[in-house]
This record gives sequence, C-alpha cells and structure tokens, in this order.
Amino acid sequence: MPERPVSEIRTVACIGAGVIGAGWAAYFLARGLRVRAWDPAPDAEDKLRRVIDAAWPALTELGLADGADPHAIALFPTAAEAVSGSGFVQESAPEDLDLKRALLAELADAAAAAGPDVVVASSTSGYPMTDMATDATDPSRLVVGHPFNPPYLIPLVEVVGGEQTAAWATARAAAFYRHIGKSVIEMDQELPGFIANRLQEAIWREALHMVAAGEATPEEIDRSITDGPGLRWPVHGPCLTFHLAGGEGGMAHMLDHFGPSLQSPWTRLEAPELTRELRDDMVAGAEVSAGGRPMAELVAERDRAVIAVRRAVQEARAAGAGHS
Ligand SMILES: NC(=O)c1ccc[n+]([C@@H]2O[C@H](COP(=O)([O-])OP(=O)(O)OC[C@H]3O[C@@H](n4cnc5c(N)ncnc54)[C@H](O)[C@@H]3O)[C@@H](O)[C@H]2O)c1
Repeated sequence: MPERPVSEIRTVACIGAGVIGAGWAAYFLARGLRVRAWDPAPDAEDKLRRVIDAAWPALTELGLADGADPHAIALFPTAAEAVSGSGFVQESAPEDLDLKRALLAELADAAAAAGPDVVVASSTSGYPMTDMATDATDPSRLVVGHPFNPPYLIPLVEVVGGEQTAAWATARAAAFYRHIGKSVIEMDQELPGFIANRLQEAIWREALHMVAAGEATPEEIDRSITDGPGLRWPVHGPCLTFHLAGGEGGMAHMLDHFGPSLQSPWTRLEAPELTRELRDDMVAGAEVSAGGRPMAELVAERDRAVIAVRRAVQEARAAGAGHS
C-alpha cells in the first residue's frame, strides 16, 4: 500500500472534543497542523475554544511550530465531513464500549474514503482495540493512541493495534506521533489498561485500600508521592530509581538486598515470584535504561533534576496562588 510520509499529514480530524479531544486539538494546532473537529454537544465549539485558549500560553512557552495558528480549526456537522480531507483521525469520544464500536466502524469507512493511508487512533483509556473494532467492516486501520491528560503537555502516547489491525497502521500512528514530538510506546500486544494506566491503577487501588482501612488519609497519600517518589519519577522511572537505590551495586544489589521484602505484606497486589530469570531481566533492563552512564552521573542527574522540578513546582504553585 503506497504510504505518504507522515510529514505530509497537514490536517487531523478530532472526533469528540471534550477534555481529551480538545487537548489533542490544541496540541495538533501548536505543531502547525490544521484541525477538523466534530462533537455532537451543542456547546462543543465554545468548550473547544476555551480549552485551546487556555492551553495556548503553555504551548507557546514550550515552543510553537512554524505557522502554528490557534484558529486553524473548524467544526463540522458530521464525523464523516470532519474526516474527509484529513490525513489522520484522533477519536476521543466517551469511554462507552457500544458507542466506540459504532463510531469506530463509521470512522474506519470515512478514513478509507479520505485516503488509503489514513489511520484512526482511539484515545480510549483501556479498551483493547479488538473489543472496540467488532462493528467495523474493515478494522485494519483502527489503532489505540492513548494519551495522558492534558495531551498538549504530557508527551506519552501508548500505541497498540487489535487482532485485525494492519501492521502498517500501528507503525504509521507511532511514526506520526513521534513526528509531532510525542514520546511513543509501541506495544506489541493488547493489555487492558496498557502500561502506564496499569501502573497508575496499582497505586490507585492500594491508595483506596489504605483510605478504606483507615490507614492513611488522601492528603497523606498525595504528599507521600509529591514529596516522595513523585519527585524522582519525572527523571527516572520506577526501575531506574531502584537501580540507584542499590548504590554502586545497582539493580543487582537492590534485588538481592530487598528481594525478600517482596514476600512482606507491603501491598495487596500479589508480587510475582522473583525467579532468577526475572532478576536477570531487571538487571539487564536497568543497564539499558542507564545507557552505560556510571552511577555517579545518574545520581548527579537525578539530584539536579529533582531540585529543578521542586523549584518549578513551587514557583508554579506560588504563581497560581497569586492569581486566585
Ligand atoms: N480524561 C482523561 O484523563 C483521559 C485520559 C486519557 C484518555 N481518555 C479517553 O479519552 C476519551 C474521551 O474522554 P474525555 O475525558 O475527553 O471525555 P469528555 O466527556 O470530556 O469528552 C467526550 C466528548 O465526546 C463527545 N461525544 C459524545 N458522544 C459522542 C459521539 N457519539 N461521538 C463523538 N463524540 C461524542 C461529548 O460531547 C464530549 O465533548 C475516552 O475514551 C477516555 O477514556 C481520557
């Protein structure tokens, strides 16, 4: 199938323009793209405009692409009209399986009419595409492109196809997102909740357990993250963080030292058995994440970045308090 380079995608259709759809629209506009939107709500246009206006100062601060124009957006009376003339489709309708099934079937047809290489990406928070694509005559161009709120500031997008998604469509969605500056994880298997939501959910469920059992207040839980591990996570993810927790011995020492704690009742989630294979995979993964950099360099990087993040958060809070 002849594919145009993703750099030739100049117009994106945003189907559903609520919190996420409008956030996507703002990001696409900031990357210099045009947006064709559809949303059945009577006040959709006003809400969309408000989100874009509110996002634009932050997007300007981050740097706009040449030609970026917050007004390069139009709303259309039907989804098909919005998709027509678009090179990529981002669906952000409500998280309702029946609704997604019907809508994605319609969008697949409209995208095929718009061009042979037009992909439809769903912002779904957790439905596998195999479950959402059941009504589509041709589901080959349907993929998940899961963002984080707000999509104009958080770089991560998780991309994964369903059983009937064509490999070209998943690759094209990932390439397009990368081209516009997103950090893409291209998953090779469907996993409910993808990767990041599963991790968020693990913390969330444990937090709810602790509140329900009277063990911690929501404030304590929030502060335990924002004044604790949350300060390291913008710099190093949970695996590299624990690599540093092992000191000079890195992940290997950390696992050998704290491995037995996995049997302690520190969480309601059942821990996996720490097999030799899992241990070795984690050690090797930490080395990949470290990119060959020595521990002292990683520690210095973490410390510099944590201080910078703390200052930035404090400044942002003080500025916000001044405005309220
Ligand atoms: N809110 C989040 O933090 C978040 C994060 C990542 C992904 N998502 C996903 O993004 C999608 C949208 O969520 P949201 O938070 O923007 O919801 P939202 O309620 O803010 O927006 C949904 C929009 O869809 C419109 N809509 C209603 N019926 C529609 C239809 N048949 N076709 C098209 N649009 C329709 C509504 O009018 C509304 O403007 C969901 O799949 C959700 O799981 C949400």
